[in-house]
Amino acid sequence: MVKPLLENLAGRPTRRPPVWLMRQAGRYLPEYRALRTNAKNFIDFCLNPELATEVTLQPVRRFGMDGAILFADILLIPHALGQSVAFVENEGPRLEPIRDAAGLAKLSDTRAAEILSPVMQTIKNVRATLSPEVTLIGFAGAPWTVATYMIEGRGGTDYETSRTMAWSNPELFAALIDRITTATIAYLSAQVEAGAEALQIFDSWAGAVPAPLFDTAVIAPTKRIVTALKAKHPNIPIIGFPRAAGSHVARYAAETGVNAVGIDHMTDLSAAARSVPNGVAVQGNLDPILLLHGGEAMEREARAIIDAMRGKPFIFNLGHGVMQPTPPEHVARLVDLVKGKA
Ligand code: CP3
Repeated sequence: MVKPLLENLAGRPTRRPPVWLMRQAGRYLPEYRALRTNAKNFIDFCLNPELATEVTLQPVRRFGMDGAILFADILLIPHALGQSVAFVENEGPRLEPIRDAAGLAKLSDTRAAEILSPVMQTIKNVRATLSPEVTLIGFAGAPWTVATYMIEGRGGTDYETSRTMAWSNPELFAALIDRITTATIAYLSAQVEAGAEALQIFDSWAGAVPAPLFDTAVIAPTKRIVTALKAKHPNIPIIGFPRAAGSHVARYAAETGVNAVGIDHMTDLSAAARSVPNGVAVQGNLDPILLLHGGEAMEREARAIIDAMRGKPFIFNLGHGVMQPTPPEHVARLVDLVKGKA
């Protein structure tokens, strides 16, 4: 059975592009909210294979995407390393911030594999039920993006504390990035062994990295992850998503060794596609706001993206995740349109 998503990741365009959406599982779906109310704690929810399997499958069952993204979170890595992570209702994640060598020294990876093992069970369950043309995508956060949460203790800042550490205490910053990178390699490798067929590395806050630090904070750790994974699993396709990385995208694609680059909606998709090495696929980049509002504008822009990328290795996606108030009917319409059913 040919999987359209894997074909494009291998550099082979298909008649119509495969489609999946970042944050395709989640609170915009009533069937997700119904299950989520039973779990007080979001980490426990992610680490419950029965619930995580069901919410991974929900959007694929309802809309027929070509990819299922594992239901988990990028903050499972700090949790597995022993940092306290809590999700506060309507406020987002809260972590006990790491700001010095003593904070870093409290991290430990001795139990990480055991803490994360329910994720591997979820992957096995999903693979056992997924239809054969659908690709299961595993994921992790990129070291920089995960580090910003570990340092700031929350999202929604301008990453001032993280940038300060990167500039003023490069040894501590490098040691933290190194810990996250090592843990992420083990975690993603276990995901492949459990049955993930492709991986995405989310660098959601790559756009906040000062240009002179882009190599050390983004490219080098990502390259280390990709190189280690390919050494162990030569055929595993990897998508990198350096969100808002602007002028760095071409170099990111050329130097990290990823098979595909996720492009945000602020970036010109055709120009990005021309800038990546031959055979590297691009993924993106409909503005999630257009999906929220639906209608004529969404359809016109989705068609423009498909037309612009025809004949190139390409995966249709948004430029960032599905927004919470998005009507599920708009998602149904978009997926049908990309699949040529509408
Ligand atoms: O559908 C999917 O994409 C799969 C699951 C997934 C989640 N988070 C579930 C989730 C994935 C791939 C992520 C990645 C993630 N998590 C990122 C990178 C992608 C991006 O959006 O940039 C980031 C930055 C996080 C960290 C995170 N997790 C934040 C900031 C929040 C709180 C904000 C929010 O939207 O609530 C989360 C919680 C989270 N992760 C939810 C879901 C479905 C909502 C939690 C809930 O149900 O209460």
